[in-house]
Amino acid sequence: MNIDEKYRLVTIAQGFSYSPYSKFKVGALLIFNDDSYVMGCNIENASYPLGNCAERTAIFKALSDGKDLKNVKELVVIAPSPRAVSPCGACRQVMNELLPSDCIITLFNNKKEVLVLKNSDLLPYAFNEGDLNG
Ligand code: THU
Repeated sequence: MNIDEKYRLVTIAQGFSYSPYSKFKVGALLIFNDDSYVMGCNIENASYPLGNCAERTAIFKALSDGKDLKNVKELVVIAPSPRAVSPCGACRQVMNELLPSDCIITLFNNKKEVLVLKNSDLLPYAFNEGDLNG
């Protein structure tokens, strides 16, 4: 999938955002090795802490639909931030556990500025399953 198509699709996901409180619309697109994809958006609530980020929406949707997250090649995210969006710490923790460490993370803002990273770049020294085994 080329970069214009990724931008087009993630912008559609962003349009589905339910964010009446922050008015900060975020979209996510999980792309699999066969070029199939799952969209996500942020979903807020009047009880503020219950909101969910776009990245985790996409990941949880895909997993709960029975998709094998080992086959994810890329996560694309967009938000109307001044720089390419920086995923929050909670999402990084979930991405670290559930997406391949070499998965590409493509971050946009709505000026189409882009930053391309790897999942493992986003959370150095991550707490993980191995840390639970003392
Ligand atoms: N948000 C995301 O969906 N993803 C991010 O990477 C950053 C923040 C959402 C959470 C909340 O709905 C709004 O953006 C403002 O923080």
